Amino acid sequence: MQGYVPGEQPRGGSVVKLNTNENPYPPAPGVIAAVAACASADLRLYPDPAATLLREAAARRYGFTPAHVLVGNGSDDLLTMVMRTMVGLDDVVAYPEPTYSLYDTLVTIQEGRSLTIPFPPDFTLPPALADAEAQVLMICNPNSPSGTFTPVAVIEELARERDGLVVVDEAYVDFAPASALPLIARYQNVLVLRTFSKSFSLAGMRIGLAFGAPALIAELAKVKDSYNVSRIAIAAGVAALEDYAWMERNVARIVTTRGRLSDGLRTRGYEVLPSAANFVLARRRDQDQAPVHAALRERGILVRHFATPRLADALRISVGTDAEIDQLLAALPR
Ligand SMILES: Cc1ncc(COP(=O)(O)O)c(C=O)c1O
Repeated sequence: MQGYVPGEQPRGGSVVKLNTNENPYPPAPGVIAAVAACASADLRLYPDPAATLLREAAARRYGFTPAHVLVGNGSDDLLTMVMRTMVGLDDVVAYPEPTYSLYDTLVTIQEGRSLTIPFPPDFTLPPALADAEAQVLMICNPNSPSGTFTPVAVIEELARERDGLVVVDEAYVDFAPASALPLIARYQNVLVLRTFSKSFSLAGMRIGLAFGAPALIAELAKVKDSYNVSRIAIAAGVAALEDYAWMERNVARIVTTRGRLSDGLRTRGYEVLPSAANFVLARRRDQDQAPVHAALRERGILVRHFATPRLADALRISVGTDAEIDQLLAALPR
């Protein structure tokens, strides 16, 4: 949902697409081969509703059992399952803001209530979250759109002190220094969400993973669409995990380019928050960036602008290839 901005889909020609945090590099060759191998008469058959092969592969890779893992049609699908399971009329979901806008949409669909606590300017986690009266706490880490990272120890303290569910949305964690996955073994109330859309270069395939205590995973599975992940996506996910080194190589390149992008933006007068993701948030204090966003768009360069009071003077820019970042920097006003 976040990716859909009317009028901002590329219409062919050479578009530099830095608005939805996709990976500029292709998926691993083994993934493309696995997808091609799926193009057979077997497509007449339904996929495994439990996505067993992918859950087994994920369990092996991350050191859990398949009962700790649920597969989603992207992590958006997993977020939907969380909200459907946990949130009813007037139930409260707390999270710091600004963050991933889908949380609010999904809470509203459930007729629940969002309790939002503003991030301070440095985007450290607001201490008031610890006492928020809410059934569910959402923490996007690294956070979008800020790119900032909360140390896992801070999240662990929240999980220890709170009874309710703590959901850690780790869509961007492969670009960050640490993951909350180890908490799963120690806390029954922690759920960690991952996606293959960013670090694994598979946004078009729609694969997400949830990790949690088996009892929690079993509850979420009750609201899952039966065949939520296709045969092709299951095969692609297994192959992606088998070539983990490919993903890590691309992440390393993106992290290097992220440094160049941040430095280049600072040289051009932007404040850039330290990013642990594959995008950066660049701000020119009190200067609305809507005209800059529009001017870039005229030149075929798509970045993200949020027309909200807190973010109007900022642009969120995905880390593309070095050549794409050079084009962006050259097109920005000095
Ligand atoms: C914070 C966050 N969570 C989840 C998602 C959804 O990812 P997926 O493509 O796996 O549905 C995104 C996508 O941009 C995101 O930014």
